[in-house]
Amino acid sequence: MKGSIPEDKIEEVRRRTDIVSLIGEYVTLKKAGKNFLGLCPFHREKTPSFTVSPDKQMFYCFGCSEGGNVFSFLMKLNHLTFPEAIRHLAGKVGVVIPERSMSPEEKDRYTLGEQIRRVNGLAAEYFVRALQSPAGEGAREYLRKRGIEAEAISTFRIGLAPEGWRHLLDFLDKKGIPPKLVEQAGLAILRAGEGERGHYDRFRGRLMIPIEDVDGHVIAFGGRVMGAGEPKYMNSPESPVYTKGNNLFGLSRTREAIRQAGFSLLVEGYFDLIALWGAGIQNVVATLGTALTRAQVDLLRRYAPRVVAVFDPDEAGRKALARSLELFLAGNVHAKAVILPDGHDPDDFVRTRGREKTEELVARAVPMVDYYIEEILGGRGTLEEDRDKLREAVAFIARIEDAVERNLFIKKVAEKLNFDQEVLKAEVRRVLSHATASQVEPTRRKSVREPDHLELGLIHMMLECPERIPAVAMSGVMACFTTEELRSLGERLLTAAGKEGGAIPDGFSLVNGLEEGPVRAKLLDLLMSESPYQEEWMDRLFADTLRKIQRKWYKERHRMLKAQIVKADEAGNRELCDGLLREKERLLQEEKGLA
Ligand code: CTP
Ligand code: MN
Repeated sequence: MKGSIPEDKIEEVRRRTDIVSLIGEYVTLKKAGKNFLGLCPFHREKTPSFTVSPDKQMFYCFGCSEGGNVFSFLMKLNHLTFPEAIRHLAGKVGVVIPERSMSPEEKDRYTLGEQIRRVNGLAAEYFVRALQSPAGEGAREYLRKRGIEAEAISTFRIGLAPEGWRHLLDFLDKKGIPPKLVEQAGLAILRAGEGERGHYDRFRGRLMIPIEDVDGHVIAFGGRVMGAGEPKYMNSPESPVYTKGNNLFGLSRTREAIRQAGFSLLVEGYFDLIALWGAGIQNVVATLGTALTRAQVDLLRRYAPRVVAVFDPDEAGRKALARSLELFLAGNVHAKAVILPDGHDPDDFVRTRGREKTEELVARAVPMVDYYIEEILGGRGTLEEDRDKLREAVAFIARIEDAVERNLFIKKVAEKLNFDQEVLKAEVRRVLSHATASQVEPTRRKSVREPDHLELGLIHMMLECPERIPAVAMSGVMACFTTEELRSLGERLLTAAGKEGGAIPDGFSLVNGLEEGPVRAKLLDLLMSESPYQEEWMDRLFADTLRKIQRKWYKERHRMLKAQIVKADEAGNRELCDGLLREKERLLQEEKGLA
């Protein structure tokens, strides 16, 4: 596939693209010395280790070791093939790439996604024109009544699918697009048992709202009936370019506003978002009515670390809040909740009360954690109800991954609900250990297994920057290594460097002498390429790596202990249980001492 785009064109695209501004469209970057730093879009992290170098036009994440150039960034981030990434960038920087000559199969295999996006884009244009045509008067009137103005209509490319069975199919047919592809894009349906002529338009007599990916490609549509009728919305089915839970409506148009505001306002519906946007509150995104997903939280975090989410005051809203809170906690997003007055949604709230009142409401949003504890768990009831609440609280707390976060929560809940903190802790521990009881104890990895990337990174640093070896020795970090081969290699480096006047061993031949396997291959590969360690990052990177390896070890130890505690508990061995709990406490203290 690479061969089908001329090398010089690829080079030209690369030359004309600036990696900092490209990545800056997806990740909030801050200048740090010669480079730019941000939260890595490829793994979850709290402190930025994702680095972009304008000099090298490369990115690298010290947390997950993902790295590369502009093309690899786009490929990885948006799940594009190499040619797709080139074409996307070429379009942006104005490089014309000649059409390839490809076999039909190649076309199918590699570009179904591209073709679907193109069909969707054409369909969006068609719908927009239909809305502006005389036949669109009814629909325009509907939008007028809902207070949606021309600017919002054109920004969100709102359109109309006219009544009738083949309008879109005919339009696309004239552009040479086969019905089968229209069907794959989710815009046509095939009548059962009929051939090519059996296709008909999926969307008929509906207001059409395009759903775009963050780059503004149309990946799906939502179609709303005007006035009464069922179903209220008809949506494109999932396709190779559209997965509901991976996308958020409006983000392509609102991400700049979100970045500027430092938070996103999360609502449910297309019209909630469009109405808020129209009223001048533009840092909005919508979930499209389904439960929030981890992928969506990850997406939100790329643009701002804070979210204010709007919920209904009813039972469904409470459930949604509890579930979202879990995701926000796990995703390291600071979340606040706005509860609208009964019977309102953001759309009619902003229309009836106006922008200022809405902004006040948002400004008064309470941290979701507090809201959850006070309003959902809170309020003393009968003994029965209290027990239910305790159970709910425990189940909730047990799902919080971060131990620090979990303890904070326990403390808050205990205070708020007047539960004994120790009881709560014990309950949580019980639930947690059951959840992990089935896990087997970790064993040291054999050399055929993938080496741990943090440990690999540290060894690489020791090889590239031997002056760091004494600090490694001091830290005692070698004891925390889980990849046996790396540990013994590290140990050898320490011994060699520790000998009086001991010459630092030649890293290359040391590694070269290792047994055939992934450790040797990876290290050789690293040593062969240019050292990624620049002076200015080195202190931090080094310290981070040490800390992460140690943390990982403690985590593993805690997991093992938990399993042992459960076993001891089940066997009724009180003494062993207490001993293990003391060990757990000791570990915690020890770990604290490190920080
Ligand atoms: N939704 C859907 N299918 C439905 C109902 C809702 O896909 N039958 C999704 C849509 O994405 C919708 C969101 O859930 O935007 C929220 O639903 P709702 O509040 O009913 O829709 P609104 O967009 O607010 O529409 P309106 O104000 O026109 O009723
Ligand atoms: Mn609504």
